Amino acid sequence: LRIFISRDAGAVAVGADEVALAFEQTAAKRGVAIEIVRTGSRGLYWLEPMVEVATAQGRVAFGPVTDADVAAVLDAMIADGPHALRLGVTDEIPWLKRQTRLTFVRCGVVDPRSVEDYRAHQGYKGLERALTLGTDGILADVTASGLRGRGGAGFPTGIKWKTVAQASADRKYIVCNADEGDSGTFADRMIMEGDPFVVIEGMTIAGVAVGATKGYIYIRSEYPHAVEAMNAAVMTARRAGYLGEHICGSAHSFDLEVRVGAGAYVCGEETSLLESLEGRRGIVRAKPPLPAHKGLFGKPTVINNVLSFAAIPFILAGGAKAYADFGMGRSRGTMPIQLAGNIRYGGLFEIAFGITLGELVEDIGGGTLTGRPVRAVQVGGPLGAYFPRELFDTPFDYEAFAARDGLIGHGGIVVFDDSVDMSKQARFAMEFCAVESCGKCTPCRIGSTRGVETIDKIRRGERVPENIAVVEDLCNTMKFGSLCALGGFTPYPVMSALKHFREDFGPAPTRLQAAE
Ligand code: NAI
Ligand code: SF4
Repeated sequence: LRIFISRDAGAVAVGADEVALAFEQTAAKRGVAIEIVRTGSRGLYWLEPMVEVATAQGRVAFGPVTDADVAAVLDAMIADGPHALRLGVTDEIPWLKRQTRLTFVRCGVVDPRSVEDYRAHQGYKGLERALTLGTDGILADVTASGLRGRGGAGFPTGIKWKTVAQASADRKYIVCNADEGDSGTFADRMIMEGDPFVVIEGMTIAGVAVGATKGYIYIRSEYPHAVEAMNAAVMTARRAGYLGEHICGSAHSFDLEVRVGAGAYVCGEETSLLESLEGRRGIVRAKPPLPAHKGLFGKPTVINNVLSFAAIPFILAGGAKAYADFGMGRSRGTMPIQLAGNIRYGGLFEIAFGITLGELVEDIGGGTLTGRPVRAVQVGGPLGAYFPRELFDTPFDYEAFAARDGLIGHGGIVVFDDSVDMSKQARFAMEFCAVESCGKCTPCRIGSTRGVETIDKIRRGERVPENIAVVEDLCNTMKFGSLCALGGFTPYPVMSALKHFREDFGPAPTRLQAAE
């Protein structure tokens, strides 16, 4: 029997390692020959630890499995018989079947430690083609795909790469931003743990396109499993001739190193990340110059998010048009959306742009885990706006969200039920900014602290209209006067909470009583 169990941090946290051990021991005791493959996660987190077995109809899934279930689940696997935890053929599970997995197609399927498995599932086809195309051909494909930066800003990847390709310098760099700090996001972590070679392949293609020979993957320290997976994959790729001198026997050289952050949210901001990579404290640099002109060690640098690089191999393998055919408006392709917070079916849902927020939360996410009505949804991390139910018809699209004073950011959705206190959430946004501010500019450094104090006054019922006006003023100053998105975007959660949930700002009798 070939049994597949995730080694993803999310699955390990709920007992995947213990389940794998129980399978080994139970099978040995019974003299049943099994092979356990530790994969990444399929992203159906409420079913983890999910265990799959290879059958003639394809992989069949069981979940969530505890070590106490293992003996009976093993019996059901051997007999191909029924079991309460049997979910059927994995690819037919409706939650998975509704998705369009282009970036995450291998995640949860392959062994992330095996480059052979990666190759057996279309891996390195993109790089092989890229090596025959050269700079102009690669840039043409990336541009035609319509891919926009998946870190949050949505800047066209083709234009960014072209800027670096056209810069003349003795050295250029490729940097992967894996400092995934947004609340409710985990797509970067999942793909690094479950399909690390796709990130390496994407970065290598970028290197070939712009003429860079060295790359760095900057991973947040809170992701030790991803660090381990990426380090192992880099070594394997090097041994297999996919990194180092003359990759795949070509004239191109490209190598990678993993670097680990030190726990600052602001190091996800690209210039701050570059400072940190260079060995200094993560403080934001003023732009211009853009990293594309003067980035790491002052050299032209492509810096992209994990998901942007991970989308590249599919596009280069011949899928530029196929990729661009998905989506709506200027948002082309698919987005790995992360459903989190108070939600029944939380996990990774990759789908073409255009699906509405309501479909994602109510239909796919199944509403709240508590069973209470959904009241607010924060999209795009701690700097994203809160959306009320009335805006659930908003399609997942960069421009549609911007038109409603929101952002899709890195695709994280955090759900709250009707027990949420939105003035407390607004306070949290200001406090988060105060704690994480790098301190370089005044609106963010001081504005966020004054914001916390003023929201506290509102929550105590002190001169509510006047203090709301002060918060609005502060938000305007922060939005237009901050150097980077941390200070500049904190007004989004604050202003959206004020706009859509004004009734939560003021002397709520119950809150005051509770405080007393
Ligand atoms: P930005 O709009 O300043 O830049 C976007 C990217 O395009 C950068 O890499 C920039 O260097 C590049 N760029 C801009 N103009 C260019 C040109 N003419 N040529 C070449 N490259 C050019 O946005 P920024 O400040 O980098 O990112 C803000 C976003 O970060 C927000 O939208 C937010 O959603 C997101 N974010 C993501 C987080 C995460 O965990 N993934 C956390 C916090 C914020
Ligand atoms: Fe630093 Fe905040 Fe200014 Fe960004 S907005 S540069 S985090 S002080």
